[in-house]
Amino acid sequence: MDKLIIQGGHELYGNIQVAGAKNAALPLMAAAVLAPGKTTLSNVPRLVDVGTMGRVLANLGLEVEHDRDAGTMSLDAANLTSDTAPYELVKTMRASFYALGALIGRLRKGKVSLPGGCAWGPRPVDIHMKGFEAMGVSIDLDEGYVVADAANIHGTNFVLSFPSVGATVNLLLVAATIPEETVLDNVAREPEVTALVRMLQQMGATIEGTGTSTLRIVGTRDLKPVQQAVIPDRIEAGTYLAAVGMTGGEIVLKGAEPEHLTMVIAKSVEAGLHVTVTVDGIRVKRNGELRPVDVETAVYPGFATDMQAQWIALMSMANGASFVTDTIYPDRFTHVAELMRLGAKVTMKENVAKVQGPSKLKGAPVMSTDLRASACLVLAGLAAEGETHISRIYHLDRGYEKLEDKLRALGAIIDRVGER
Ligand code: UD1
Repeated sequence: MDKLIIQGGHELYGNIQVAGAKNAALPLMAAAVLAPGKTTLSNVPRLVDVGTMGRVLANLGLEVEHDRDAGTMSLDAANLTSDTAPYELVKTMRASFYALGALIGRLRKGKVSLPGGCAWGPRPVDIHMKGFEAMGVSIDLDEGYVVADAANIHGTNFVLSFPSVGATVNLLLVAATIPEETVLDNVAREPEVTALVRMLQQMGATIEGTGTSTLRIVGTRDLKPVQQAVIPDRIEAGTYLAAVGMTGGEIVLKGAEPEHLTMVIAKSVEAGLHVTVTVDGIRVKRNGELRPVDVETAVYPGFATDMQAQWIALMSMANGASFVTDTIYPDRFTHVAELMRLGAKVTMKENVAKVQGPSKLKGAPVMSTDLRASACLVLAGLAAEGETHISRIYHLDRGYEKLEDKLRALGAIIDRVGER
């Protein structure tokens, strides 16, 4: 297993090209299953999770080719040879569960392993199931697998009890193939969902309400393969924004979409960062002290739970106390104990972290527990005095493309070494 060694305390200067969004690429890849023929995606990030989804789809019979240098991917869904997504693949990545919506949409049946929990708590799929059932899909559980039979599928009106991203994606994949009206209410409005809506529209589905909480879909059994570009990764951009907030300096996040980062930018400006929108992205600068700013995670357009860990790292250097609350995943605080090893002062009360800054962070060995927790530790390591060793960094490779290269280009001293 690899680890990262960071010599902290260097300001960051320069440009970063923001990668395509993992959480947008995965649903677009699943949508390729719906159209017999060759779908082509561009701006596909080089990430382990993208590879995992590629394997899930190849296992169904798709011919998947990812040109990692060009960032293009072709997915030929002419012939499906299996209706099953096995445990071995689904257990490593929850989004593999999108295979179920894709299979129901294309084959009107599917067998997909139930995703388990994750390092920071249970993550149920009850809303996905209730939505499928409302569409007339019969669902059985068999030895850890969800077995779906959609012979009697039909349009419906369904209100999601919570605007879950995953459930919205799965239900859209199916609704786009039903040649009757389906109304999905209280859907997730994340940009990654909207990106999927746009792709399904191009493929031939009629969808009204793009970007709102209510989507009216009239699908078709005759969806066509299309070419589609993956939208920029707002969480990657937000992570580097927080990095320069911690180290000081000035960077341009090239290709970042400011509209997708409204809340993160507003909070960063409140904290004292200078953020300006440029023709080709977002410029971020810190040259003064950081102010404490409370955040509470919420569904989009609120503050993303995927930025919560990075915000705690940033706030550890702010001049005073701030409160960071996660309402989406109340247990998602495994990074706090590790961050405290670097000198951050954080006290937890249920799902609220009180971060007492400013801390003078000092390098130490730490261990990463999940993707965004790892990002939080990298940020802290960049700002800490001395050397930080971060173990178990395979999590980072799931969601950050060329992380060390990008940071090194900004002046960070960061190396990846093999660890026995
Ligand atoms: C997606 C993102 C993840 C992000 C999360 C919240 C992908 C691949 N992953 O995950 O990075 O952190 O959105 O923005 O896009 N819930 C239920 N029942 C369900 C489904 C969800 O109770 O059937 C709950 C979850 O436990 C959680 C909340 O709804 O508390 C949000 O989950 P959801 O939006 O579904 O997250 P994911 O799609 O898994």
